[in-house]
Amino acid sequence: MAVDLLLGLQWGDEGKGKIVDVLTSNYNIIARFQGGPNAGHTLVFNGKKHVLHTIPSGIFHDDATNLVGNGVVIDPVIFKKELDKLEEQDVDYRKSLVISRKAHIILPTHRLLDAASEASKGKAKIGSTLKGIGPTYMDKTGRNGIRVGDLELDNWKDIYRTLANKHESMISFYDVEIEYDLADLEKEFFEAVKVLKSLKFIDSEEYVYQAQKAGKTILAEGAQGSLLDIDFGTYPFVTSSNTTAAGACTGLGVAPNQIGEVFGIFKAYTTRVGSGPFPTELFDEDGETMGRVGNEFGATTGRSRRCGWLDLIALKYACQVNGVTQLMMMKGDVLSGFKTLKVCTAYKYKSEVINHFPYNIEPENVEPVYTEFNGWEEDLTGMSEASQLPKTLNEYIEFLEKELEIPITIVSVGPDRKQTIFRKR
Ligand code: IMP
Repeated sequence: MAVDLLLGLQWGDEGKGKIVDVLTSNYNIIARFQGGPNAGHTLVFNGKKHVLHTIPSGIFHDDATNLVGNGVVIDPVIFKKELDKLEEQDVDYRKSLVISRKAHIILPTHRLLDAASEASKGKAKIGSTLKGIGPTYMDKTGRNGIRVGDLELDNWKDIYRTLANKHESMISFYDVEIEYDLADLEKEFFEAVKVLKSLKFIDSEEYVYQAQKAGKTILAEGAQGSLLDIDFGTYPFVTSSNTTAAGACTGLGVAPNQIGEVFGIFKAYTTRVGSGPFPTELFDEDGETMGRVGNEFGATTGRSRRCGWLDLIALKYACQVNGVTQLMMMKGDVLSGFKTLKVCTAYKYKSEVINHFPYNIEPENVEPVYTEFNGWEEDLTGMSEASQLPKTLNEYIEFLEKELEIPITIVSVGPDRKQTIFRKR
């Protein structure tokens, strides 16, 4: 069986966790392939909210196996906290959670390095979640990292010490004050590693290959969004992994010709958390309304998200880079009550009108060109059938489908599993 992918098409926080949870009953295996605890995937069901950071969003379904793939970076301390929360809810994760031996470990000193690097950048900071993501991927590509499989070695603590010492000397190179007590951090870290080691470590590329051969269905769950991709995002204001479709191949060991459906998730408007260019960002009452009604606060850091109109140029680019086959539109309900809606359908780029996503979208180069739509008044949150959707919302959806040449198969009208409208297959 081919592996299906589910990816965020904007700057993250599109609602991937909810859709994975909705789709999980169709899949035997849910696999994370990149990122780490910088992600915050929110799931709501039975009136309760659950936030996952590293654990795949299929964990609440009894029959799904949840794989943390080789492309993921794991912080044992945060992972343990996630497990503790699952335990409180009687989720039997031991039988359904497997971890790639090739996934890399985030050390306490990676988090400190992240903090030192951001502090040293001053106003030019990335706005990182400070979870140690960048430094851990730097050690991975620099061939210095510690992998999950290394924890099975007798001398892994020696390898740890050498790397942590190196990190401490690197921290002292930054001309910033970072207060920390490494002994304290290490105590917590070593305790958490013990818990991690009690889980099942596997050679995940072989596992995925055999599962495919046995006809198992697999969904690869992306984290962050395409515009935060290390190659195709708004560099340097990006994360340190490939968040796009290709990342699923390298992050799980799946060959490109084994990819099936590519589900692209986007919000009916746009948000961004952290620094970096955002052409359709709003600084007015409309942006404030989107943030308030949409509850736009980071699930990992609690930071408020910047809000703006839908950017079709950026969305087209993301569909193109990922080969999206089906679209899912989230949070249409947040736009209820807006008299007029705007969609950015071109960029004025250095005084020329362009229709593609250029090298640089800094505000001094790019100005959005908008097309306007009539809004809708109806509250969508209680709707469950496509036939109930207001006419003007259908016009908005059909315009996007026509421009993107991809069907919008799901319209989400609220955070709960149940608030999901299937339009067409
Ligand atoms: P890092 O990956 O924590 O280093 O953060 C790099 C940039 O990506 C920052 O602007 C973060 O706010 C953003 N970012 C990282 N993870 C997420 C996410 O899951 N959702 C939204 N933004 C994210």
